[in-house]
Amino acid sequence: MDAVEQHDAFFNSFNLVRGPCLGSGALGEVVLASAKHNSSLKVAVKIVTFETDECESDFLYEVGFLRDLRHPRILKMIAFAMDDHYGFMLSTYFKNGTLRDTMSSDPPVEEPRILRHILDVASALQYIHGLYIFHQDVKPRNILLDDEDRAVLADFGLARQASDSSAMVMKWETTPGYYGPETRKKRPMSPFKVRISSFFSSLFLWHR
Ligand SMILES: Nc1ncnc2c1ncn2[C@@H]1O[C@H](COP(=O)(O)OP(=O)(O)O)[C@@H](O)[C@H]1O
Ligand SMILES: [Mg+2]
Repeated sequence: MDAVEQHDAFFNSFNLVRGPCLGSGALGEVVLASAKHNSSLKVAVKIVTFETDECESDFLYEVGFLRDLRHPRILKMIAFAMDDHYGFMLSTYFKNGTLRDTMSSDPPVEEPRILRHILDVASALQYIHGLYIFHQDVKPRNILLDDEDRAVLADFGLARQASDSSAMVMKWETTPGYYGPETRKKRPMSPFKVRISSFFSSLFLWHR
């Protein structure tokens, strides 16, 4: 079976019709899909190509976390499927896109709205940090906006779980440009602190 046939088999098994690409990232692409018998029912499908074992393990981490996490400000996974070459993850579709899309808006987004988005993300982080899960890739492209303009944290491909809140890491697995200043010191650091500060400052810098 080639890639197209494998993808078709997945969409058919969920009675879905594949739609346009919504976005892409390090692991693959996310496409819109609608129910075969009711095109107004839409979902987002993340398709990860297992080019390396790392891609597969990031996919397994992501579906493993999203399967168990229950929080209004965290993306809800509906289902997932995988074979030797691809992972597919179905989730709620967010027609308003990501926080990144709002950053080039004219006029610029007003501060109360930015603050509400920050509080939404902080509440999602507080919840996962309470479970000793650290996200490692908090950035505007990984934050979706729901119909009420509330922020929803997504993309748990780099998330990992520590054994307790005092865990330390030597380096961040994250998007270049989002490393916190602590990374330069090359000393053990908490995975629960730095990412928040670098995300917040990036958001404010962009909106200035
Ligand atoms: N549920 C969704 N609804 C709408 N767009 C989405 C959804 N999930 C992801 N996207 C879009 O796809 C992009 C990539 O998704 P993401 O989960 O971050 O994948 P990657 O791990 O490849 O970065 C996002 O930046 C966003 O633009
Ligand atoms: Mg992403």
